[in-house]
Amino acid sequence: MFEVTQFAVGGLDDNFSYLIHAENGDSAIVDPCGDLSRLFAAIRKHARVNPAYILITHGHRDHISGLDEARKAFPAPVAAHPECRVHPDIALADHQRLPFGDSCIECLFTPGHTADSVCYRLGDDSAIFTGDTLFIDCCGYCDPDTMFRTMREVLYPLPDSLIVYSGHDYGHVPFETLGVQKRTNPYLYTDTLKAFRREIRKL
Ligand SMILES: [Fe+2]
Repeated sequence: MFEVTQFAVGGLDDNFSYLIHAENGDSAIVDPCGDLSRLFAAIRKHARVNPAYILITHGHRDHISGLDEARKAFPAPVAAHPECRVHPDIALADHQRLPFGDSCIECLFTPGHTADSVCYRLGDDSAIFTGDTLFIDCCGYCDPDTMFRTMREVLYPLPDSLIVYSGHDYGHVPFETLGVQKRTNPYLYTDTLKAFRREIRKL
């Protein structure tokens, strides 16, 4: 139903940007940053493109470095947490559902890495865009107590089917299902705060 394309956009931090495309042409960019030439080329390949959203996972510079460039080529409203430095056109609420294709994209507040961190879950449970909250095999630098709550209460209960698309290429693979990460990623499966704090000290 949705087609997701992952772009390794380079830079020192091995960032990822994403293009989400629905059958009816609705399209969204996640975290426009780095070298966006291949992303723009991918947009041009689609017969129908309705620029629906530019989705920001959090306001760190490396995730929004291409925002001005993206806005010019892709005239869609910018959606982000209300406290995000980008001053979003759509100031999201927790669990807000943005209409997209024949379904939606749901925003989940996931504080821990930053106070303005959010994840975006596709309405058909095919994917989740986790920014610097959840990486493949690890998680972002964080306040451990807040991140532990996010992992346990927000991310762990989500369906195994979701493919985790994170903000950086830090894992043994560029993406993987949440189901596998629940079994292999200690930052996701650790179920006591004490043990979680120990894991965070390894970052
Ligand atoms: Fe970050």
